[in-house]
Amino acid sequence: MATMESLIGLVNRIQRACTALGDYGGGDNAFSSLWDALPSVAVVGGQSSGKSSVLESIVGRDFLPRGSGIVTRRPLVLQLQKTEDGQQEYAEFGHLPRRRFTDFSVVRKEIQDETDRITGKTKQISPVPIHLSIYSPYVVNLTLIDLPGLTKVAIEGQPESIVQDIENMVRTYVEKPNCVILAISPANQDIATSDAIKLAREVDPQGERTFGVLTKLDLMDKGTNALDVLEGRSYRLQQPWVGIVNRSQADINKNVDMIAARRREREYFATSPDYGHLASKMGSEYLAKLLSRHLESVIKARIPSITSLINKSIEELESEMDHLGRPIAVDAGAQLYTILELCRAFDKIFKEHLEGGRPGGDQ
Ligand code: GDP
Ligand code: NA
Ligand code: MG
Repeated sequence: MATMESLIGLVNRIQRACTALGDYGGGDNAFSSLWDALPSVAVVGGQSSGKSSVLESIVGRDFLPRGSGIVTRRPLVLQLQKTEDGQQEYAEFGHLPRRRFTDFSVVRKEIQDETDRITGKTKQISPVPIHLSIYSPYVVNLTLIDLPGLTKVAIEGQPESIVQDIENMVRTYVEKPNCVILAISPANQDIATSDAIKLAREVDPQGERTFGVLTKLDLMDKGTNALDVLEGRSYRLQQPWVGIVNRSQADINKNVDMIAARRREREYFATSPDYGHLASKMGSEYLAKLLSRHLESVIKARIPSITSLINKSIEELESEMDHLGRPIAVDAGAQLYTILELCRAFDKIFKEHLEGGRPGGDQ
């Protein structure tokens, strides 16, 4: 398992290095196909369905702007990188390289400020992503993407086109075959009207890469429950549905912290007359484990194609490096070198441990 983890870690670092390189090379090169070949997880759903809250619980840290209305107005590409035990946690933004954030409330502030820098302090949206990496011993290696919420009507101060603009933006992420869709639906609305399920069904009709997440179980009308959804009778997916209880707006206002929130969520399921029998398969911590297990198996299945892309990248990179005499930004040169090193490392680990299923080796 240690080897699989190091491969996923490497995949993440390659993704990050490709991102830092930006569209160097004109977009359609081995790096962009490499990026597309690597799996990521996108969070999709209607406005205020609980997307940002779910993402935060998966990460286990409070750092995202949340609340009623349109809070998330640019895609946030979030890379979690597991570090050695005992290391201090920190975050880094793509637009502020080399600045380490150790206070997660400052991270939240920077997401808000960086959102405003592009969109203005309005209710406008922008497809330009914010890149954020979190390095921590407590996370699993994952790339997560928080997206603006799908909506049915423009509100005051928004152009009419916003409904379609948001949908198009979300679609560019979820239509990629390597995107795992975290489809968020609130339990206090009819699942048949879920924006998340509607879009997921369009881009993933077999439900192979969609995880159904049902939030706000605590807000359902008394006397009703969500068993039909959670047990897959309302809408069947190949992955199991996961029920979630996030913090309410009142909890947010009272600064209820993540640890308390997770404990309450566990208690909610353990003591629930309706969901007690499902308790071990509910909640944010379970969802995080489910996702990382899924990504591991996806990466494992894709290793042959990732490896061949990496070999192609290595060739391209080597010839790029040969031509470094021509005008090229110093940073881009360094980044190319980094990617090349990472690709070689991936190839090496892959060859040593995974190819041919070495007896007594990884599994
Ligand atoms: P997003 O717009 O989809 O990103 O949703 P947010 O995560 O920003 O949450 C929107 C609002 O719903 C916030 O006020 C949250 O506190 C609240 N909320 C989200 N999930 C739950 C939940 O499971 N239970 C309760 N009671 N409130 C929730
Ligand atoms: Na919101
Ligand atoms: Mg949000």
